[in-house]
Amino acid sequence: MRPTPYPFSRWSPADNNKFASAEIYFEGRMLMEIMPQEFSSLLEAYPKDRRYALAVMQDMQRQYNYVPREGLEALAEYISRPVAELFSMATFYKSLSLKPKGVHIIKVCNGAACHIRGAVNLVGGIKRIFGIAPGETTEDGMFSMELVNCMGSCALAPVMTVDGKYYGQVKIESLSAIFEALRNEAKP
Ligand code: FES
Repeated sequence: MRPTPYPFSRWSPADNNKFASAEIYFEGRMLMEIMPQEFSSLLEAYPKDRRYALAVMQDMQRQYNYVPREGLEALAEYISRPVAELFSMATFYKSLSLKPKGVHIIKVCNGAACHIRGAVNLVGGIKRIFGIAPGETTEDGMFSMELVNCMGSCALAPVMTVDGKYYGQVKIESLSAIFEALRNEAKP
């Protein structure tokens, strides 16, 4: 199944028809339930000023691993700006995602050195294993793949990271073992 352009959320409106809680669904599974108090504490850490909008969105990204639509709406109300303006900001900054990401984030370097040494083949290998292209997440929500610029370890090209852990001189044949080890680590 291809990722939907945006996660689906089911709202539970409060009496005044404002957001009371939201269940966030993506790829047919419920990711989390967000309560409005969570947004309140994120918002109230900053003055009601547009200058702090990016900082708030970065906090949401850290907390939820993406910026929920409900979060943008709460922020828009907080700083009295249109949601569309915040949406544009969120799409402009690469560090912000409007889609939930997987539990494990695979970043494949596509800088010059890694590109020459087979980054595209790594992407193809990961696609064969998980059925996802860069920017996509597996249906079980376990893995997301991203294509990134130079990660500063060109001597080890091709390089990828999984949850921040570096893997250098990665061979396509070793990918399955790397990911299998991660799945096993995650088992209770
Ligand atoms: S180009 Fe990949 S680490 Fe520098």
